[in-house]
Amino acid sequence: MKIGLLGLGTVGAGAYEIIENGKGRLQEFYQEELTIERILVRNLDKKRPVEVPEDKLTTDAAKILDDPSIDVILSVMGGMEPAKSYILKALQNGKHVITSNKAVVAANLSLFLEEAAKSNVAFLFEGAVGGGIPIIKPLKQQRRLNQIEAIEGILNGTTNFILTQMMENDLEFDTVLADAQARGYAEADPSADIDGFDVQRKIAILSSLAYGQDIPTDKVYTRGIRSIRGMDTDYFKSKNLDVKLVASSAEQDGAVSIWVEPCLVDPSHRFYAIKNSDNVVSFIGHLSGRLDFVGAGAGMDPTANAVISDLMDILDNHYQADRIPLAVAENVGPTHASQDYYLRVDLLSCSKSEQTRLAKALLNLGLTNNQEIYQGMIEDIEASAMRALVSDVEKECGSIFYARRLRG
Ligand SMILES: NC(=O)c1ccc[n+]([C@@H]2O[C@H](COP(=O)([O-])OP(=O)(O)OC[C@H]3O[C@@H](n4cnc5c(N)ncnc54)[C@H](OP(=O)(O)O)[C@@H]3O)[C@@H](O)[C@H]2O)c1
Repeated sequence: MKIGLLGLGTVGAGAYEIIENGKGRLQEFYQEELTIERILVRNLDKKRPVEVPEDKLTTDAAKILDDPSIDVILSVMGGMEPAKSYILKALQNGKHVITSNKAVVAANLSLFLEEAAKSNVAFLFEGAVGGGIPIIKPLKQQRRLNQIEAIEGILNGTTNFILTQMMENDLEFDTVLADAQARGYAEADPSADIDGFDVQRKIAILSSLAYGQDIPTDKVYTRGIRSIRGMDTDYFKSKNLDVKLVASSAEQDGAVSIWVEPCLVDPSHRFYAIKNSDNVVSFIGHLSGRLDFVGAGAGMDPTANAVISDLMDILDNHYQADRIPLAVAENVGPTHASQDYYLRVDLLSCSKSEQTRLAKALLNLGLTNNQEIYQGMIEDIEASAMRALVSDVEKECGSIFYARRLRG
């Protein structure tokens, strides 16, 4: 089987090591010879994490997408375009496609699945959610037997690393973010991670598969961790709580409630032990009950392992049964259930004219004031009422953070 690789960065190099350099046990189990025929990159002269014969590299995508001898495309480049056009072209040309690119999958899942079905080829994306955690395949399998009722998880290693370091080492957000960037855990532009968009894409993909609905990412209520400060983590520690960026969705009678928010968990919660760059995904099926999957959310070997697991499904001819038609999602939004929330407002960051009104309102909610920092738990408030309250405060104040208390 001949393979075309689009991208030779972290994930591409990991896939190359497995297929061409015998890392792992793949070739022991398949008689068929597997070769990476050609690799698309932007810059032919760049130093690569793996040694690759020069004649395999190209900057011309057509040399891969239009080569009839290539059966499978591994699309392991980031971004929306040209990744989307390349995937479509490959599917239309009758090639199986495997990708780890969650951005392009979240935005085009339904389209890619339809094109794959038309050409009778596979479109697989295990590496796009949860990095090394095998979650897509079990979810696709279990949804054919179970009614999937809910999904929740910690789906971003960078933010979990930042939160863990802040909690365990009494560090400030900016310090940990700079450290994560220096170590290569966080991108130079960290917005996709710290503003929650990476997690938003992942929960949209999982929920689309689980509920058979094409869930647009912009329907996922999303808040990140950009505004968390040491005074918040100090408070959580004093209450024996930990903070996590959690993604969640649930389906009932066709309506999907879906959100991404910072959440507080106590030591009895299954997410409490998920530290640093580890991820967890749980789903609840009406027969299976809750299933938890824990592991590395990213990294060269774990993600390449997921990508090559998809390749094995193609070699084993196991992909047809997983085809999922996605209906147009008509009733999608954030939850309205009542919850307990933590809220912190730095009153000195609020407009002067509003400080007296806000101080009174925050005290009425049960928050305590320590040197103009108002913080505490607000109990049993509807999620929509909390969003309205916070949007009022955010209009007037520059420094605020809030988090949902997660139970169970
Ligand atoms: N890294 C992880 O742990 C991880 C985990 C799960 C999912 N993912 C996803 O997997 C994808 C790849 O991630 P990565 O970390 O391997 O990325 P990366 O290290 O930045 O590598 C991207 C590769 O794609 C090539 N490329 C990008 N745009 C191109 C274009 N327009 N034309 C030709 N080649 C192009 C680059 O070529 P040059 O090298 O010549 O610039 C590079 O080799 C992303 O969507 C990412 O979100 C990554």
